[in-house]
Amino acid sequence: MNTWTPDSWQTKPLAQGVDYADRAHLQRTLAELAAMPPLVGSWEIEELKRQLAEAQLGRRFLLQGGDCCERFDDCRPEPIAGKLKILLEMGLILAAGQNRRVIHVGRIAGQFAKPRSAETETHNGVALPSYRGDLINRPAFTAEARAPDPRLLLRGYQRATLTLHYIHGLIEGGFIKTIAGKPLCWCGSCTAAPVNSGRQCNCHPNIDRVEFFTSHEGLHLDYERAQTRPGPRDSTWYDLTAHFPWIGDRTRSIGGAHVEFFRGIANPIGLKVGPTMTPEELLALIDVLNPNDEPGRLTLIHRFGLRRIEKCLPPLVEAVRRCGKTVLWCCDPMHGNTQLTQGGLKTRDFNHVLGELDRAFEIHARLGSVLGGVHFELTGENVTECIGGAGGPSEADLGKAYLSDVDPRLNYEQALEMAASIARRTGNSRKYARRLPPVGLNRENSNSQ
Ligand code: PEP
Ligand code: CO
Repeated sequence: MNTWTPDSWQTKPLAQGVDYADRAHLQRTLAELAAMPPLVGSWEIEELKRQLAEAQLGRRFLLQGGDCCERFDDCRPEPIAGKLKILLEMGLILAAGQNRRVIHVGRIAGQFAKPRSAETETHNGVALPSYRGDLINRPAFTAEARAPDPRLLLRGYQRATLTLHYIHGLIEGGFIKTIAGKPLCWCGSCTAAPVNSGRQCNCHPNIDRVEFFTSHEGLHLDYERAQTRPGPRDSTWYDLTAHFPWIGDRTRSIGGAHVEFFRGIANPIGLKVGPTMTPEELLALIDVLNPNDEPGRLTLIHRFGLRRIEKCLPPLVEAVRRCGKTVLWCCDPMHGNTQLTQGGLKTRDFNHVLGELDRAFEIHARLGSVLGGVHFELTGENVTECIGGAGGPSEADLGKAYLSDVDPRLNYEQALEMAASIARRTGNSRKYARRLPPVGLNRENSNSQ
């Protein structure tokens, strides 16, 4: 394989590329972006990798969630605090229910670009480029709004900075205490979460801080590259736009630019795995993206849909198990369960989402693997975008507060209910999994299996 450089992706076919009319303007903007301070620290990235390695061993559980696509207009205190709150509350429920620590990763502070199936959108015979997320263009259906604008890259970086700054402020200021009204235990290995009747837990008294990591789809490689730098100690390169960037299902081609870029950065990375992935392709991607089988490096985020998971997931789990490589399996039960209502709105049914998760836990346990995380599109607000859940919106209610321009998100109540349902189920699947050799733990035996 050729030598990797932060620009070697530019020689590969680029899926979902952006065509800027003024290339010189783009280059000036990227130079400006590259000179700005990084959004996250390489030491935080390494810490997340260490925690994800623990999740691979079943000692932690990954909770990843946030908007399908963040809007610049949503860079306001309420939506940001709302997302932090729901993720931390879900984390509490999951930690208590499963007796293990939760890793909180937001789809936040950079989830500004979207892959699109169609390059153009047509209304009344007029075709314009599709809206690709606020990092690239604007949603209004005018030629001006839809033209990719390099200045949006800088605005995205600034929004990401403000969002992160606010999240840090909330966490430093003891936001967690405002959730339960008292100090909480985040260890997940004691039973007190929240600490009951004012008692402090024995293992981690008075824990009022929590770690929170950021993630987004690393779709726009110009943006990712501009913030990619060598680490402080050696020649390792980090993508410093987020702790945990992931490769989308539409940009994961093995000879493509995205895989080339991602193979050389040292961050822990995610890879979306959809229904068209074959076992051979997956093993080849694992080899390219994690050649040294580094713990915590690679999370496979599978997203098949309730109807397809039973057919699609087992051959992939078996293949990974046979090759003996270490991955973290995470289930995104959102992206394979999108449906259109009669009125043409995109929605997802709570029962289909939970149903896919149920099957995911069951399949991994059955095959001696561990499902170590979940990935949701959600918001802390009271939107009506997904149907179902106890007291949740019906199809007729969807128009009441449908705010997403792209995929439908679980609302606050639905997200909490989802966490409670997972907590109940994972207790069981962990007991079941303990009887089987976990994937990746017994590498020395892997050849004889
Ligand atoms: C997403 O996570 O918003 C997304 C587009 O997912 P996928 O790449 O799995 O389709
Ligand atoms: Co989405």
